[in-house]
Amino acid sequence: MATLSEIKQPIQSNLDEFEKKFRDSMKSNVALLDIITRYLYKRKGKQMRPMFVFLSAKVNGGINESTYIAASLIELLHTATLVHDDVVDDSNVRRGFFSINALWKNKVAVLVGDFLLSKGLLLSLDSNEFDLLKIVSEATREMSEGELLQIEKARKLDISEDIYFEIIRKKTASLIASCCAAGAASVKADPEMIKKMKAFGENVGIAFQIKDDIFDYESSNRSGKPNGIDIKERKMTLPLIYLLNQSDFVEKRKIINIVKNHNNNPEKVAMVINKVNENGGIGYARQKMISYHDKAMQILDEFPDSESKTALKQLVDFTIERKK
Ligand code: IPE
Ligand code: IPE
Ligand code: MG
Ligand code: MG
Repeated sequence: MATLSEIKQPIQSNLDEFEKKFRDSMKSNVALLDIITRYLYKRKGKQMRPMFVFLSAKVNGGINESTYIAASLIELLHTATLVHDDVVDDSNVRRGFFSINALWKNKVAVLVGDFLLSKGLLLSLDSNEFDLLKIVSEATREMSEGELLQIEKARKLDISEDIYFEIIRKKTASLIASCCAAGAASVKADPEMIKKMKAFGENVGIAFQIKDDIFDYESSNRSGKPNGIDIKERKMTLPLIYLLNQSDFVEKRKIINIVKNHNNNPEKVAMVINKVNENGGIGYARQKMISYHDKAMQILDEFPDSESKTALKQLVDFTIERKK
């Protein structure tokens, strides 16, 4: 498998330039905000979304100023949603460090997330990038809907496989789809091509979130996020949904009872995690993840071969093989 830095090579200079623009886009005169955005900037993530933006632009034309705006807009939005997500999920760890809510409390994290979101909106408005703004705003709406649907299901614990896919398509795949669509739109690709890139990104995004959900069942994961947090939050993801579908009525009731009433008991949660592992829940989720990976690859194959297409394919492979 190619490493992230190998995949970055064809767009390395663009990513370096992007870094500066992204950092500047978060600046504020309020000291507390500036301290926090600098903290966020220093502990950057994998930056896969900007990579999807630049590579999708390159596959469809030549990277330009609009491509940079698309990349910054999306990374701002992504950062905002992660800051909010750790409040929503009550998680103290992000990217291997303390989360914003862990260090500055929930109220600050909520406001920092709003600040980043507004900076993204202004960035696109100030440069009249209405097409990009529309693509990304639609993704933002879908992300909120996906998160709320997830909360609804965590309350009722009545999630089916179909609903699981609807949740992850909205909360995660919509943003990766928007990376690919915005990248293509930034170089004025034909609407048909933009649509194709969006479908490509959506399939990658679904595979990406299945991978993330598998991490939560691996005690040895080095993702920079704790494991077992999903059950603690009553979040039933694909490996567990599969286990439930394989279980008889009594067994199913037992598992749901743990998720519902003993989700703060580490031994009981570990028991469910073990069951998922023993009964092929991870294997099943992996198989689904691979089928979305393959669908994405098929769509990409309709584009002519190029250095950036090869890198994009490697990034799709990385999505499902990554260790963090
Ligand atoms: C985390 O995304 C949020 C999910 C959709 C699971 P990433 O794993 O891409 O986060 P960073 O930016 O690299 O930390
Ligand atoms: C991903 O959700 C974050 C968003 C899409 C907003 P999760 O809660 O599953 O992601 P991690 O595991 O905390 O990154
Ligand atoms: Mg969450
Ligand atoms: Mg979370």
